[in-house]
Amino acid sequence: MKNRSLVSIEDYSKEEYMKILALAEKFEANPVQNILNGKVVATLFFEPSTRTRLSFESAVNKLGGRVIGFSDTSSTSVSKGESLKDTIKTVANYSDLIVMRHPIEGSSRYASEVSRVPIINAGDGANQHPTQTLLDLYSINKTQGKLDNLHIFLIGDLKYGRTVHSLIISLVDFNPTFYFISPKELMIPGEYKLMLDRKGIKYSEHLDFTDIVEKADIIYMTRIQKERFSDPMEYEKTKNSYVLKNNMLANAKSNLKILHPLPRVNEINTDVDDTEQAYYFTQALNGVYVRQAIMTSIFGLL
Ligand code: CP
Repeated sequence: MKNRSLVSIEDYSKEEYMKILALAEKFEANPVQNILNGKVVATLFFEPSTRTRLSFESAVNKLGGRVIGFSDTSSTSVSKGESLKDTIKTVANYSDLIVMRHPIEGSSRYASEVSRVPIINAGDGANQHPTQTLLDLYSINKTQGKLDNLHIFLIGDLKYGRTVHSLIISLVDFNPTFYFISPKELMIPGEYKLMLDRKGIKYSEHLDFTDIVEKADIIYMTRIQKERFSDPMEYEKTKNSYVLKNNMLANAKSNLKILHPLPRVNEINTDVDDTEQAYYFTQALNGVYVRQAIMTSIFGLL
């Protein structure tokens, strides 16, 4: 992992996922350390974010490093027409690592090809969000005591949901059974089904999940992402497709946990928040430890 960019979840092997998870557990026990002293991390967010940017910045601050960057391009030279290449080459002069979120698929890979410092993809359009996936794996492992042989429900926007795409790729190494639950307009893209077919992974597709909740070990809810639709009518048609409510969990397994990358709009009713199954806010907290593990591994410090 040392000095390597993390652009796609496929950049890491199963062994490397497990190393990150083990290291994150150590950071959870001891999150404040002075091991990034002298390191500068740049967070370049060309798209809005709360959790990803702030958990990266919190992770750096707790480890004694410094953060530079922007969360809005209107105050940068991007607004004057500066290219992504020139922005990255410039910021690489001022930092040791760049964390970047960008609306265009493939932008992180491109940035990694022109940067002299490693790039961490913090979300590139509808493509991937690999650090979210590592914190999702950490959260699943922590709540289930294992990653293998789990029944995973993925619900909502499976077409544009980058967190879903990265998570599916990472879990194929752990013999999951997937239940893809989405409106017809937002079904999982064919390329993911082809990959699962090739690897012999079981999956099924559904329009509803209320009659099968008792099968789930993990429910991974996602938001219908207004910003990804070119046709506003398509968004209006699908935006209220699923609302998970407390009374739907009556027959759930005792080990069921509900995850969501967040932000939520209305797809999880607030009456779920205080249940034993709700894990999404702790999941977001886990992002700090996992991102500490990722950055220290890239810096070759642990
Ligand atoms: N999960 C996630 O990417 O959240 P933000 O958009 O708030 O960073």
